[in-house]
Amino acid sequence: LSVVILISGRGSNMASLLAAADAGTLPVRVAGVLANRSDAGGLETAAACGVPTRVVDHRQFATRDDFDAAMATAIDAFSPDLVVLAGFMRILGAAFVSNYHGRLINIHPSLLPSFPGLHTHARALAEGVRIHGCTVHFVTPDLDHGPIIVQAAVPVLDGDSEETLAARVLAQEHQLYPLAVRWFSEGRLRLCAGRVVLDSPQL
Ligand code: GRF
Repeated sequence: LSVVILISGRGSNMASLLAAADAGTLPVRVAGVLANRSDAGGLETAAACGVPTRVVDHRQFATRDDFDAAMATAIDAFSPDLVVLAGFMRILGAAFVSNYHGRLINIHPSLLPSFPGLHTHARALAEGVRIHGCTVHFVTPDLDHGPIIVQAAVPVLDGDSEETLAARVLAQEHQLYPLAVRWFSEGRLRLCAGRVVLDSPQL
């Protein structure tokens, strides 16, 4: 199974997927890593792992549709079975999303449907929630509202700052994303009439 990963920044989730693929615990080939900014730190990490990288800079396109089309062309050059958003910070339009229906997933740093959007850890602290976490979901045109695949929860501790809480959640993200991608690669995970179907493992 071949995967393309889209990033915008440091790419630690991407690195967790590359590490799992290298270790043989994730039976996928990461065919390419794409970023919408040339200064995304994860590009160097990917290149150091021998993974081809491409930059599709959103600032070079007049409209979202033009950017989405260029991104789709760059993705399709790798013919991936699955497209993985890992800290990819651009909203993708409905045409793009429906083109990858059932094979486009995202990781979000909150227990959705709580805290869609940005600054999730600060908002969780401001609301005083006692449980926070992360969610892997299929992407639909409705931002951060696609069908939920798997979640991990962490406690919010007295004295937490945005940074300490983010770090606790991120450690879970690095476990959760390889797990979800493995389910997909094993053919156990799919989207069926807008619902997530996860088959039991073959014994
Ligand atoms: C992660 O917390 C991810 O859930 C969120 O942005 C962060 C990206 O981190 N969307 P990284 O680039 O994977 O290190």
